[in-house]
Amino acid sequence: MPKIAVVPGDGIGPEVIEQGLRVLATLAPDLEVEHFDLGAERYLRDGTTMPPDVTARFGSEFAAVYLGALGDPRVPSNVHAKDILLGSRFQLDLFVNFRPCKLLDARYCPVKDKSEADVDFVVFRENTEGLYTGVGGQFKRGTPDEVAIEQEINTRKGVERIIRAAFAYAREHGRKRVCMSDKANAMRHGHDLWQRVFREAAAEYPEIQASHLYVDVLAMRLVQSPESFDVIVTNNLFGDIITDLGAALQGGIGLASSGNLNPGKAALFEPVHGSAPDIAGKGIANPLASILTAGMMLGYLGRRDEESRVEKAVQACLKSGRVTRELGGTLSTREATEAVLAAL
Ligand code: NAD
Ligand code: IPM
Ligand code: MN
Repeated sequence: MPKIAVVPGDGIGPEVIEQGLRVLATLAPDLEVEHFDLGAERYLRDGTTMPPDVTARFGSEFAAVYLGALGDPRVPSNVHAKDILLGSRFQLDLFVNFRPCKLLDARYCPVKDKSEADVDFVVFRENTEGLYTGVGGQFKRGTPDEVAIEQEINTRKGVERIIRAAFAYAREHGRKRVCMSDKANAMRHGHDLWQRVFREAAAEYPEIQASHLYVDVLAMRLVQSPESFDVIVTNNLFGDIITDLGAALQGGIGLASSGNLNPGKAALFEPVHGSAPDIAGKGIANPLASILTAGMMLGYLGRRDEESRVEKAVQACLKSGRVTRELGGTLSTREATEAVLAAL
């Protein structure tokens, strides 16, 4: 019986994870779940961010981790989120941040005249290096002479495995194009490595159209012609930014799901959105990202039928307007979940 580790986290995290768990209880009642009290509350209570033995258990004992969001105004340093979320990504070596962007109902797309078929791409975001490692330092902090350095790490191993994962996915899923995005015109060292590795990998996938866009142009093209994208592969920071843009294209951050993966090893699933302190505790957060994320997790566990049932149920709710307020509906978080359960 597969075991799932659940980390509700902060803000709307617990509110939306509860909804995803209701869907999981319906579709996969055999899944065993164990809750982990990790997040701002715990940190403020006893100083714990991420116990090392918990990270180890996530990697060995659980089929997947299902996480809400981390981030709380009472912890301005965000140290707990860094240890729990980035810590899991790094320690479990979850090098693929897989973020699909699929428009399920054209009327929620903010770009005019785009059909559902026009917005259907996936982003492979590098998830273990780039500008996220914390390598760097500060010197003369708080003085007029201070220096702050954030170094971008690009290893051949790291760049190669994410680019290859993107091509392998394209081949396996009948996607025709892979677009790599960097800023090699300004960042001559690290992103030159991306360019060279991308050309080498592309040569091994002759049936897939390989292209490149600098990330500024990518941002523009994503808005103008999302239909020109199938698979996008990029570094950690650019992937973070363009997947919020992608979330907007599919109807909003309340609809975007993601999986942090190391194929065959460990996996952590989470909605793309954060803890949304501005709406936390009001019962109005959109649970659909969390529910779609639960569906993605089921697919990862080999339950593809259930994954597609979740997506169809969410789509039915979107089509009939049974949604939360930020999408123009009237439903609460719980009611939106009940609509999904009814559609199921
Ligand atoms: P956010 O994604 O939490 O919120 C951005 C905007 O989107 C807010 O207006 C919010 O109300 C809205 N929103 C987000 N999710 C929604 C939902 N499900 N339904 C309806 N509206 C929703 O981003 P932020 O405000 O920049 O970050 C808040 C905190 O979350 C910060 O501490 C940040 O570091 C953290 N964060 C965590 C994660 C994560 O744990 N995976 C991801 C992103 C941000
Ligand atoms: C995300 C979030 C995180 C990231 C933050 C909370 C560190 O924005 O998962 O997209 O930048 O990776
Ligand atoms: Mn983000």
